[in-house]
Amino acid sequence: MSIERFDPRADEQRLRACHQMTVAGQPQDDPNVPEIPFDGFRGWWGYGFAGNPTQTWLGTDDSGEPVGAYLLELPEKENRANAFGFVIVPPDRRRRGNGTALLAHMAGEAAAAGRTLLMSMTRIGAPGDRFAAETGGMPGMREVRRTLPVGVSLRGRLPGLRASAEPHATGYSLRTWDGVTPDDLVAGICAVYSALADAPHDDAFEPPGWDGDRLRAAEQRVLVENIRWHSVAAIDTATGEVAAVTQVNVSPRQPAWGWQEITAVTRRHRGHRLGLLVKVAMLELLTECEPELRCIVTFNAEQNDHMIAVNDRLGYRVSDYFQSWEHTVARASALG
Ligand SMILES: CC(C)(COP(=O)(O)OP(=O)(O)OC[C@H]1O[C@@H](n2cnc3c(N)ncnc32)[C@H](O)[C@@H]1OP(=O)(O)O)[C@@H](O)C(=O)NCCC(=O)NCCS
Repeated sequence: MSIERFDPRADEQRLRACHQMTVAGQPQDDPNVPEIPFDGFRGWWGYGFAGNPTQTWLGTDDSGEPVGAYLLELPEKENRANAFGFVIVPPDRRRRGNGTALLAHMAGEAAAAGRTLLMSMTRIGAPGDRFAAETGGMPGMREVRRTLPVGVSLRGRLPGLRASAEPHATGYSLRTWDGVTPDDLVAGICAVYSALADAPHDDAFEPPGWDGDRLRAAEQRVLVENIRWHSVAAIDTATGEVAAVTQVNVSPRQPAWGWQEITAVTRRHRGHRLGLLVKVAMLELLTECEPELRCIVTFNAEQNDHMIAVNDRLGYRVSDYFQSWEHTVARASALG
């Protein structure tokens, strides 16, 4: 296999090859959700999480046919000793050592960038899970994916849910918007995003701190992915401070599916049922502006009791479990 780096923002042909390999594997790798649209894939591979720099590499055989690829994220602010990786091999090329060769190559690049730990995530029960264990990965925390059916039953429960939150949330008003963060809320949203540092995470993972530049860089992904990005925030009416936010995106290519992004409440404003309130307000909003929506998908660390309690009340049910993995870079690069 020959493994070559390409630019995911400029080289659409190679990026499409990576997307096709990922989609081809989906019935085995992630069967309970629809395939990621190409625009979404472009945002993921080209723009990284929190604006982190990415590297993308494509593996081809002697006849130039794609046999695998990887995405390597090399954070520059926090996590400077860590790298995040995702390896994909299409189903008809698996179990021939391609995944191991790509993992070793990726670890070599991580080593060259001064990283010592390579972090990844797999769906429990999928081939990637066995692969991660067999290649020397150490299991970390588990994430749980839950889904919420959106329909008549949910709509009927929303007034009661709102009534159970509102008496605890006097002194707050709600503000909604679509698309990127309004200028006057940038500092407040950065404070709320930074509050996510309190959520359970693997010991070696350093949660990102947010400032305006990082927020705007991360929002590039929203623009590239062509998604409808809905936000509801709770504002402390006395101070104007942003106390909580929840965000859901919907792709016009898959209007039946909503993807829960960040929900967070700043520490000072916890205990007022703001998490429930902003999520209920979001569901009311989505009922109006996303009439084709049928299901919302959310992820939480298995230990995130407070967020999970809110999601349970809304009616979310478990669909899949995910396992985080850590490979030591030195050991993984020696697999090649
Ligand atoms: C994970 C993945 C990259 C593995 O690719 P691959 O080319 O099959 O990997 P390899 O051939 O190098 O497998 C190495 C070893 O992993 C283990 N393994 C891989 N797939 C397995 C499976 N489906 N069941 C059991 N063990 C498996 C085996 O021990 C295998 O060695 P063996 O074939 O000699 O028994 C591929 O299944 C994939 O693209 N999955 C979807 C994306 C993903 O989950 N990526 C990993 C997270 S970063």
